[in-house]
Amino acid sequence: MTVTEIQKMKSEGQKITMLTCYDYWSARILNSSKVHTLLVGDSGAMVMHGAEDTIEADVEMMALHAKAVRRGAPDKFIVCDLPFLSYRRSLDQSMDAVMQVMKAGAHAIKLEGAEGNVELIRHLVHSGVPVMGHLGLTPQFVHQLGGFKVQGRGDQAAKRILEQAKALEDAGCFSLVLEAIPTPLAETITSSLQIPTIGIGAGSVTDGQVLVLHDMLGLNTDFKPKFVRTYLNGAELISTAINSFCDDVEAGTFPGKKESYSS
Ligand code: KIV
Repeated sequence: MTVTEIQKMKSEGQKITMLTCYDYWSARILNSSKVHTLLVGDSGAMVMHGAEDTIEADVEMMALHAKAVRRGAPDKFIVCDLPFLSYRRSLDQSMDAVMQVMKAGAHAIKLEGAEGNVELIRHLVHSGVPVMGHLGLTPQFVHQLGGFKVQGRGDQAAKRILEQAKALEDAGCFSLVLEAIPTPLAETITSSLQIPTIGIGAGSVTDGQVLVLHDMLGLNTDFKPKFVRTYLNGAELISTAINSFCDDVEAGTFPGKKESYSS
């Protein structure tokens, strides 16, 4: 999968699938799956490191995860988030952050918001770096938004997100994540743009869908937002397997003959 192929999928009306991935073993599984693209999301700070929000993610963390994902999924198109403030200081510092995650194995970067990012996006695109935008509920703005809340409700708020989306397309983004916005707004944005939109909590009208892998696998039992569909009772299955191991050890039935060496 390449940027051009992802864009072609929109013109051919084919849905794009994206899942988050942060580590080598899940990357291996995803590499042999049908999913089109992988996102090394800064949600990894929460999912993999137990942080309350994505503010804790830094460039080193993202690069480390991107490297593991690239090793495990050499055949997938990998997008890596630029973490909080790493692209809001000088151009030099932003370019260093991008260089680190691209050299670690990402094929493209994603950044949140539009205002103040347009010049950097143009520079990145002119430098050969594919950029994915992210609008609506942008988790790096959690303290300004007052929590993880649906965005773009009401005419003014909707108009602003539509304008931001057009600005990101003009700046050269190859695709755009729309998070937690009303479906009619997602539909307007999707039909107004040439570039594909990838939704999470934006209804089925976007050109593709993204979910956090651990949410859709049912590994995170404390978190079940409205937009997540759980495809596996992962936490339950894993804990049953772990308890079976403990039971077998306690009963002396593990290891058995088959799992032991003869002299
Ligand atoms: O970091 C992340 O997982 C994301 C998705 C929610 C789109 O940005």
